[in-house]
Amino acid sequence: MPTTATMATRTDALRMDDPTWWRQASVYQIYPRSFADSNGDGMGDINGITAKVPYLRELGIDAVWLSPFYPSALADGGYDVDDYRNVDPRLGTLEDFDAMAKALHDAGIKLIVDIVPNHSSDRHEWFREALAAPRGSAARDRYVFRDGLGENGELPPSDWVSVFGGPAWERITEPDGTPGQWYMHIFAKEQPDFNWDNREVREDFLSTLRFWSDRGVDGFRIDVAHALTKNLEETLPTTADLEAQGEALYLEGRHPYWDRDEVHEIYAEWRRLFNEYTPPRTAVAEAWVHADRRARYASPEGLGQAFNFDLLQADFDAAQFRTIITKNLAEAEASGASSTWVFSNHDVVRHATRYGLPASEDSAEGIMAGQAGKQWLLAGGRQEDVDVELGLRRARAASLLMFALPGSAYLYQGEELGLQEVGCEIPDSERQDPAFFRNKGVDIGRDGCRVPLPWTSGGASFGFGAGASHLPQPAWFTGSSVEAQEGQVGSTLSLYRRAMALRSQLQTAEALEWLDTGRDDVVAFRRPNGWTSVTNFGTEAFELPAGEVLVSSSPLEAGSLPGAATAWLR
Ligand code: GLC
Repeated sequence: MPTTATMATRTDALRMDDPTWWRQASVYQIYPRSFADSNGDGMGDINGITAKVPYLRELGIDAVWLSPFYPSALADGGYDVDDYRNVDPRLGTLEDFDAMAKALHDAGIKLIVDIVPNHSSDRHEWFREALAAPRGSAARDRYVFRDGLGENGELPPSDWVSVFGGPAWERITEPDGTPGQWYMHIFAKEQPDFNWDNREVREDFLSTLRFWSDRGVDGFRIDVAHALTKNLEETLPTTADLEAQGEALYLEGRHPYWDRDEVHEIYAEWRRLFNEYTPPRTAVAEAWVHADRRARYASPEGLGQAFNFDLLQADFDAAQFRTIITKNLAEAEASGASSTWVFSNHDVVRHATRYGLPASEDSAEGIMAGQAGKQWLLAGGRQEDVDVELGLRRARAASLLMFALPGSAYLYQGEELGLQEVGCEIPDSERQDPAFFRNKGVDIGRDGCRVPLPWTSGGASFGFGAGASHLPQPAWFTGSSVEAQEGQVGSTLSLYRRAMALRSQLQTAEALEWLDTGRDDVVAFRRPNGWTSVTNFGTEAFELPAGEVLVSSSPLEAGSLPGAATAWLR
């Protein structure tokens, strides 16, 4: 990696008491079951994370976001929670959690945990109570139960389809053994939706937020934040009725369960709780809503920040990037939040793979977003269809651009290794994602970005643990391992470390000025302290402006920035 500056080190740990720490943080998402396995049972765990705190520190990130680590039957990778105030015994104990939080904090790293408020698992104590209780009982009122249609209630209350495919309603057997009511599940049938009109549900989540805040958790990522409140009073509209109303249905907040205005009353109450802590607890909404309605989730009276998935859904394209960045910075400013940026997470095809695929016309939205990636999953995920080298080159360029943007940058475990998505190498018999099972034969689902990380170039599960890993790793992981990249000039890991170190030194006021590059396919901007980022989205080399080159995502060619590359200058 060419550079004229000396290697920057992270001297200044995040100011831990600063109430604005989150505004421009780099947040590293850990999918705990696939990060590091300390006890050799094939599943990543809390002690595995604790053991890797030195790695995280060296990476230079400001915070860790932990995907669910709660007791769960894993019908949806842990997003089916049995108990919100405990740790899955396969992952550890509450004491292990406390030790991990302390180790992170001692290393100057904040801790964000995932909260899943739209639904519990079907093994949650409350849901079991609801099944055992009669129609119309208080226990059933905590969830969304309705009688079916048809002569004997044998038809679901509506024809709504769950996000993972198949009906959004499941019929239960009543305690007396007769076929009974139906409950709503926007996701898998093991994920019954809560009834957020029920005060007990609201109180219980306040207790959960307090429980983790009191344990020192610094912030929360709110799962499907836009789904909680529902309007199921009247006769339910059909899917065709809803479709006929088009975009207006969403823009006016009239959809029966997505992005209803009332949801913000819940977050206002949460905000009051967050603000009782010093520093106030932070929250970021996962809200797949119309861009015009996103700011409500990010308001200071609400969660404070919301994910912006626009770059994640864009092609590697200068015009798209420029438009998205401009729009989101303006939006963030208007809402009082800072913007968020993300290319990869546990729900989408890794960006190093997406960028190696032909751009796609088709739109794939929601948690399966990333248009080219979605098409690839539909086509069966064959690695020979991916231009791996180009994908990685672009991914490095895009990530380096992201790290120079004002706002917070969210990284997903393994992207610092330039990992590719694992496609059809995972046999069907070993798949875990409910999206694969409920949508059988449609696409291969999200397991490919959840394969355990390669820490070493060989050995059992590439150093992930002492035995086989819960999802199989492909042989090509060897070249992407931490061991293979450690200390290698030009490796993706070295690039990320250098970028993070520079970012924490250079991070400045949340503003950006676009620079005219004279080329449509070259995007450049400058931060108020002169920190400049230039990205060449094209193929023809670009002559860099004067300045000291701090880092570049690919080697410069005779001082020029080659295609699909980013450089930082000062
Ligand atoms: C969110 C999560 C996803 C999960 C879904 C249901 O979108 O990111 O992984 O399947 O919610 O909880």
